[in-house]
Amino acid sequence: MPNDDAAWWRDGVLYQIYVRSFADSDGDGSGDLQGVIDHLDHLAWLGVDGIWLSPIHPSPNTDWGYDVADYLDVHPELGDLQTLDRLVAEAGARDIRILLDLVPNHTSDRHAWFVDARSSREAEHREWYVWADPRPDGSPPNNWLSVFGGPAWELDPTTGQCYLHNFLPEQPDLNWWNREVHDAFDDIMGFWFERGIAGFRIDVANGLVKDAELRDNPPPTGEDPPEVLRRGQRFVHNMNRPEVHDVYRRWRTLADASGRVLVGETWLFDPEVLATFYGSDLDELHLCFNFSFMFANLEANALRAIVEATDAAFPEGAQPAWTGSNHDVGRFPSRWCAGDPARIRCSLMTLLTLRGTPFLYYGDEIGLPDVPLDPADALDPVPRRTGKAERNRDPCRTPMPWSGEPGAGFTDPGATPWLPIGDAAASNVADQRGDRGSTLHLTRDLIALRRERPDLRGGSYESLPVPAGAWAWRRGDGHAVALNLSGSEVAVEGVRGRIAIATERARDGEGVGGALALGPWQGAVVETAP
Ligand code: GLC
Repeated sequence: MPNDDAAWWRDGVLYQIYVRSFADSDGDGSGDLQGVIDHLDHLAWLGVDGIWLSPIHPSPNTDWGYDVADYLDVHPELGDLQTLDRLVAEAGARDIRILLDLVPNHTSDRHAWFVDARSSREAEHREWYVWADPRPDGSPPNNWLSVFGGPAWELDPTTGQCYLHNFLPEQPDLNWWNREVHDAFDDIMGFWFERGIAGFRIDVANGLVKDAELRDNPPPTGEDPPEVLRRGQRFVHNMNRPEVHDVYRRWRTLADASGRVLVGETWLFDPEVLATFYGSDLDELHLCFNFSFMFANLEANALRAIVEATDAAFPEGAQPAWTGSNHDVGRFPSRWCAGDPARIRCSLMTLLTLRGTPFLYYGDEIGLPDVPLDPADALDPVPRRTGKAERNRDPCRTPMPWSGEPGAGFTDPGATPWLPIGDAAASNVADQRGDRGSTLHLTRDLIALRRERPDLRGGSYESLPVPAGAWAWRRGDGHAVALNLSGSEVAVEGVRGRIAIATERARDGEGVGGALALGPWQGAVVETAP
């Protein structure tokens, strides 16, 4: 591992790679681990400190790697253990750490544990999964619904019982009331820690433990968000059980013993509940994704309210994580910005200057939008299963455009990429590297500024008074960030100093004498005068 500064994940910038779409080293149309190695120099140049790899394990790919068939190996299409070891070493030589995606809520139905579990009621691994008898009329044991549509129970004809799957039927949920499951995951984490893996992003972090009595989920209340109302039940028994915190207190001791980091996929919208995943004594997860922020609109009041509520709810010392894009929710250049370059620049400035750890998704650095795709061709199982075209996640999983050439520098010119590449000529890494004014250079310069200025890493956050449409905050004693998230000119009063970086790069270095004028969709980081 690179220098073992325990706080690297607080100061650093993390970068998510969907391996299959990053870079194809062998011309089969799918990205692979060697492709990641081949592009480490890009990531070092960009200035990222850590990489989170979406699942790399053997998997039938019913849910594209999130159905794990073996937690201790690498999917042959992506490489092998030796390639992963090389990636860890080569990244380490550039001071970049590698995080893996840990999927502890469920396995693939092809995992040896489940193959055994379903073989008989007496099987060794039977109790590693959640089984229940169907009701006398043959209906599922309770009313729990799958996140991916339909009942969360599947009848296993061989043994006459139903097993729980909060996602696809090919993703049976593990039984976290079983100590052997805990022991197995301790071993899995230890295996990867020994190989130099710097930590894990934990899939479905709030979902592991289910109600021990398998009680029905209650109906929504009037105050529930629209998706809960639409679904018709609150997920309080099939996931979100308080006992999950015991798991993370245990894992935190394992992680801290060797200076590793745990990042939760905490799909939670109440900041007070999100805060509980850090642990009241900061003894649970190091970082928790903030989905309220991801799903907000790019509006000053909405974003400021979320950031302030997060700040207020978090225990002293808890580090927020800020993300605009990922492989599930889509890319922020489309969702927040409708492809508008000025809004994309404001978003990147926000992500990289708030108090907290920013996560970029591959392509964010060039402002890559979602690629419009026909849902009829979806490789993602979710639109098919739910019948909802808008739930297709393929558009945010398309290959990285490295250049405008055929194959986009992602794969061989003659190869068929596993998902369509999109308009690589419109936006690609090579062109933007050659243009000092590009989004890519803005991203890189913001990351470099963050590295250079302690205020931007560890300084406190304080909202500043602003006119409508603007959002501004102080970082530490010596910096302020101001953004105009509106289509009209604004002036942010009370700011004095010098612009370190503006989204409108011609303004870098400009003096600010008490009021910062910002045109529509402009922002600036200001080094403030004492
Ligand atoms: C998480 C993953 C998502 C996956 C689901 C089931 O939400 O991010 O991609 O489909 O878990 O494993």
